[in-house]
Amino acid sequence: MKVGVLTGGGDAPGLNAAIRAIVVKGSSYDYHLLGIKNGWAGLLKKHTQSLSPELMEDTWFKGGTLLGTSRTNPYKEEGGEKEIFHNFKKLGLDALIAIGGEDTLGVANKLAKSGMAVVGVPKTIDNDLSGTDYCIGFDTAVSRAAEAIGELHSTARSHHRVMVVEIMGRHAGWLTLQAGLAGGAHLILIPEVAFDIKEIMKTLKNRYEKGLSYAIVAVAEGAKPAAEGDLIFQSAEKDAFGHVRLGGIAQALSSSIEEKAGIEARSIVLGHIQRGGRPTAADRIMAMRVGAKAIELVHDKMFGQMASVKEGRITSVPIKDAVSELKTVDMELYKMAKSFFKA
Ligand code: F6P
Repeated sequence: MKVGVLTGGGDAPGLNAAIRAIVVKGSSYDYHLLGIKNGWAGLLKKHTQSLSPELMEDTWFKGGTLLGTSRTNPYKEEGGEKEIFHNFKKLGLDALIAIGGEDTLGVANKLAKSGMAVVGVPKTIDNDLSGTDYCIGFDTAVSRAAEAIGELHSTARSHHRVMVVEIMGRHAGWLTLQAGLAGGAHLILIPEVAFDIKEIMKTLKNRYEKGLSYAIVAVAEGAKPAAEGDLIFQSAEKDAFGHVRLGGIAQALSSSIEEKAGIEARSIVLGHIQRGGRPTAADRIMAMRVGAKAIELVHDKMFGQMASVKEGRITSVPIKDAVSELKTVDMELYKMAKSFFKA
C-alpha cells in the first residue's frame, strides 16, 4: 500500500510530529509513505519525497513542516481536479492523508466526493475546524501569544499606557480569547462579537480613574467595530481561497484610544511569531495521536474521514462536517472572560 502525505495552508507547530507518527505507524503496516511537497501544489506537479522512520528521527519537536506548504487551490487551476487524480494514479498512490485547515480539507472533501481515498488531519492555529476540539498548532500559538501579552504588563504599567495587541484569527477568536485570558488582557475583542468603541473608551477611562493607569487590549485581526463594521485589510489582494490579508486593527484602535480617550497607546502585532518555532509538549502529543489515527483510518478504509479529538478522546468525523461551517468561540467561555473586562 502506498500512502501520500501533504501539509497545506499556513504552517503550524506540531506538523512534523504528526508526519512522523504517520510514517512510523504506517511503516508498522509495511506501507510505503510518500511525502507530497508544498501542499496541493506538489500533487499538481508531482513534487514528492520518500519518507521513512529513519528520516523522521529528530523531527517531532521541530516547528514548521518538513514537507513544505502552500495555499494552492487545485480547483482554481484549469483542469486542476483531473490533474490531481491523474497524478495520484501516476504516483501509484492508494490513499492520501491531507493535513490542514478549512481550505486544505475543503479541497480534500471535494476530492473525497469525487472518489479519492483521502483522510484528513486537523491543523490550524485558529482552531476553527468543526468536529474536533483540537487542531495542530493551537496550543503552541496560545502559549506563545499569552507569554507575549503577559510580558507587556510591566512596560504598559511603567508608562501608564494602553497596549493593543493584534492576534491572528480571521473568523474565529479562539486564539485571542484564550491567549488574552492566560496573558491577563483587560479587554478581549474577537470576530464573533462586534465591539462598541464607546464601551471600550468607558472601560479604559474607568480603569484610569480607579488608579489602574494602564491596560492591555487583545484584539483578533478579524475583529470589527459595531458601528463601521468593516474589517481592516493589510492587502486587498486575495489568495487562491479568496482570503484577503488582514492586519492593522491594533494600529487603528490605538490611534482611536489616543484620540477619543486622550490616553497614550501603542500597538503590537504578534504576527507569525505565533506560528513559528517549536511546538509545546501538548501539541507534540496531540499531533502524534491524530497522525496515528489517520493511519488507522486508512487501514480501516474509512476514507472521507478526519481524525479528531472530542473530550480528550481520539475519534473521527466526516471531513464534510469539519469544513461545512466554522467552529466559532464558545459564548459561555466568552461570557466568563467578559466578567474580567472591567477589573
Ligand atoms: O493559518 C491561519 C493563519 O495563521 C491566520 O490566523 C492568518 O490570518 C493567516 O494564517 C496568515 O496567513 P499568511 O501566513 O499567509 O500570512
